[in-house]
Amino acid sequence: MDEKILICDDEKGMRLYLSKILRNWSYQVDCFAEPDLLLRWAAESDNRADLLLLDIKMAQLDGIEVLRRIKRLRPDLAVVMMTGHGTIESAVEAMKLGAYDYLTKPFPQEKLLALVRHCLEARHLREENSLLKQEIKEQRTPAPPIFQSGRFSEVYQMAIDVADSDAAILIRGESGTGKELIASSIHYASPRADQRFLTVNCAALSESLLESQLFGHIKGAFTGAVQAQKGLLEEANVGTLFLDEIGELSLSLQAKLLRVLQFGELLPVGSTKPRRVDVRFLSATNKDLHQEVAQGQFREDLFYRINVIDIELPPLRERVEDIAPLSQHFLDRMASKLPYPLPEIDADVMAALENHHWPGNVRELENVISRCVILSRGKPISLDLLPFKVDQPGSLSLDSDTPFSLREAERLQVSRALEQTGWNKSRAAKLLGTSRKTLDRKIKEYDLTQHAAIGS
Ligand SMILES: Nc1ncnc2c1ncn2[C@@H]1O[C@H](COP(=O)(O)OP(=O)(O)OP(=O)(O)O)[C@@H](O)[C@H]1O
Ligand SMILES: [Mg+2]
Repeated sequence: MDEKILICDDEKGMRLYLSKILRNWSYQVDCFAEPDLLLRWAAESDNRADLLLLDIKMAQLDGIEVLRRIKRLRPDLAVVMMTGHGTIESAVEAMKLGAYDYLTKPFPQEKLLALVRHCLEARHLREENSLLKQEIKEQRTPAPPIFQSGRFSEVYQMAIDVADSDAAILIRGESGTGKELIASSIHYASPRADQRFLTVNCAALSESLLESQLFGHIKGAFTGAVQAQKGLLEEANVGTLFLDEIGELSLSLQAKLLRVLQFGELLPVGSTKPRRVDVRFLSATNKDLHQEVAQGQFREDLFYRINVIDIELPPLRERVEDIAPLSQHFLDRMASKLPYPLPEIDADVMAALENHHWPGNVRELENVISRCVILSRGKPISLDLLPFKVDQPGSLSLDSDTPFSLREAERLQVSRALEQTGWNKSRAAKLLGTSRKTLDRKIKEYDLTQHAAIGS
């Protein structure tokens, strides 16, 4: 057993008694005579422990207060309180604050050991359960994406076309553009569709936790590794692994992952025997990986391995045609949950939605629609329910001397928007409902300069 148990009690005799019993049972033990020392220990992120035995009555600081502070620092640390006679009420209070259980002093050895074992087992079960839940969540077949625009249609078609190769694909795009949705669409359109599709978010976990999640570990590899555990790379064998936010991967994990992509081999934490896996890799990032490579933050060799095919999802503001069908889709999805009829979206609201910049892309639209539906309580959704300032296209309306050619009309609108904003390109792009990049392209295409006369 490699599990570590902390003891915090200001009575020396109690510390010695407990640590002797627990060490006899092969637990690692650290003792703290003062709550302050314990709290300092807990504030160090590298320190690890599986269980804390905490005295409720200490001279320096009340055990309940220590519990409250320790839970703030270490929400996952299991805590068992030790109480004397007449402090049962505090014990109940402690349970409410998240303590696992309590022991009333004096207690026999067997009672202590039974409780410790129980608590540690429950902890492992919980950890395994949360891993399982994550996997099950990822196993559901997703509904296909909703779109109307040519831009998205092209990208989606490409994703489906490359699905049946085994090539690694890097999906890029701003936050909320649908990277995860596209990744699962690729998996479910691939020959691996009947196998597992697992996701790991490289930004969510600390480096050591991520390493053991990905590569697994052997029994005894570190404190708390009471059983061998397969990593997601092995769990995803013959299926697909989606590495979300791959730009956040540390350089040392990048090196380990490269080995898997190169040789189809991995080393579980603590092991020296490589294992073979056959995994299809999909990755996503909203970082500029070229730049990360240039700055030495991302390995170039790994970049080329994960990026055999590159898919870039356009931001929502560059595919305005998708806004109406997506809004309707999110509206319809709420229909069954509403106690009143589904509201309609007023035409001016739709125009405002189409005009918005959508920094949070489809996810933001989804949130806006939910909010509007809830606030409207069945009445048509009106402009005042939108959580953002509505851009007024104002003088950008077409007038009688509008030329007929679409190109000419576009050129006119672009130059008007630029004139109206005094060539502030960001504001002009916003007025036109497009991105800075697209605007720059249009300026070049139409050869516009700051002093060109409108319509000439
Ligand atoms: N074309 C679409 N049709 C239907 N729903 C969509 C579409 N695109 C995105 N969504 C929905 O919008 C939300 C955000 O999409 P997703 O999580 O795939 O984006 P992401 O690019 O991975 O975001 P992030 O960068 O924040 O992780 C999800 O709820 C997703 O189902
Ligand atoms: Mg995502």
